[in-house]
Amino acid sequence: RKAEAWSARFSEPVSELVKRYTASVFFDKRLAEFDIQGSLAHAEMLHSVGLLSAQDWEAIQQGMAAILQEIQQGQFEWLLDLEDVHLNIEKRLIEKIGDAGKRLHTARSRNDQVATDIRLYLRAQVDDLLSLLRDVRTALLNLAERHAATILPGFTHLQVAQPVTFGHHLLAYVEMFTRDSERLQDCRKRINRLPLGSAALAGTSYPIDRARVAATLGFAEVCRNSLDAVSDRDFAIEFCAAAALIMTHISRLSEELILWMSPRVGFIDLPDRYCTGSSIMPQKKNPDVPELARGKTGRVTGHLLGLLTLMKGQPLAYNKDNQEDKEPLFDTVDTVRDTLRIFADMIPGIQVQTAAMEAAARQGYATATDLADYLVKQGLAFRDAHEAVAHAVKVCVQRGVDLAELSLAELQAASGLANAAALIDERVFSVLTLAGSVASRDHVGGTAPNQVRQAITAARHLLQQE
Ligand code: ARG
Repeated sequence: RKAEAWSARFSEPVSELVKRYTASVFFDKRLAEFDIQGSLAHAEMLHSVGLLSAQDWEAIQQGMAAILQEIQQGQFEWLLDLEDVHLNIEKRLIEKIGDAGKRLHTARSRNDQVATDIRLYLRAQVDDLLSLLRDVRTALLNLAERHAATILPGFTHLQVAQPVTFGHHLLAYVEMFTRDSERLQDCRKRINRLPLGSAALAGTSYPIDRARVAATLGFAEVCRNSLDAVSDRDFAIEFCAAAALIMTHISRLSEELILWMSPRVGFIDLPDRYCTGSSIMPQKKNPDVPELARGKTGRVTGHLLGLLTLMKGQPLAYNKDNQEDKEPLFDTVDTVRDTLRIFADMIPGIQVQTAAMEAAARQGYATATDLADYLVKQGLAFRDAHEAVAHAVKVCVQRGVDLAELSLAELQAASGLANAAALIDERVFSVLTLAGSVASRDHVGGTAPNQVRQAITAARHLLQQE
């Protein structure tokens, strides 16, 4: 098979090193299926406007079908000499069908070809990730439903703050992943535009029909400027930004799972199939999957920065720099896809230790705010109530007891303020309980079990509408 498509212009071949340095076939062959799809749509249009005969169009279809089969069966011979996926497939087509194959590249450049391939590829990946995000959200909703009334301490600064329901805690992640879905859907709109027809950079003098190609390939519209179309990669950067946020959310969840699984905390356990042991310490069961997910977040964030840096110095229009967009993009897709898959599978397996959660919520004076709110409802100003409860907490810390363990008289005395003491009666003990505390936060966005159940119903509804 003859070497470069432009060799007639050159008096010496490139060195082996340069050949390897400039070739992309070993990673961009992943675009093969989309490259063929794009070529077929282009050829169909050429035929429809009279630039390609019926026989040639027929031969191209048959040739491409055979090539696709060779690729799928692993029989296609990818040649480094032919640089990239586009030239490999085109050369093979010419080998198979002769002159008809040589006419395919009329009114087209690899510049608009590759931009189209990446968009077709990425659109399919976005749809896959959207479905995986739905799986993760469904898994979280199912777990949240089972734990709508399970209480654990809510933290700020990693210090016990106020009791919350575990269902409510999980729904926070549902919100994050829902926004991630929105971002992907929005980014998809800008992916879903057709570069073909831009040719190398300036468009083409042939009477092409871009709208027809767009319709064949399912693109919502055509790219409006040829210079932009061949050099724009911000659809890929946007995707990587959305992917980095997905991983950031996965990483926060992972961090919590790791913390919760620590024997010091003991809120959850993960099934053995997501953990590994130690080669030296027989007692160990380590949360490898969440730890790796937290670690892989770094590489996805890195890819986003890599692509931004790749673009920032590029003048119009296409530059070979853009060939470097693929590996980070592919690795981002692979990493996010595998991570979401594994989380959708792992979340239903989380074993919740409700007793440990409740016990932890009983420590750290989690209901101190409830006591202050109680005093306010009895007529005290909030700042005075805050001070009175701070006094009471100080007494409890000294004695090593919880607020609810003080007697009524002790609680009255501990509040330190005469007007606060007078306002405290037996009813105070009901607000000091964990269940009373969470149940009282009964408004949209609040942690009450009742609200958690309503939020789950609303989230499921949203999922069905997507
Ligand atoms: N492999 C190239 C890429 O990924 C295809 C476009 C090549 N165009 C060119 N003018 N060299 O960007």
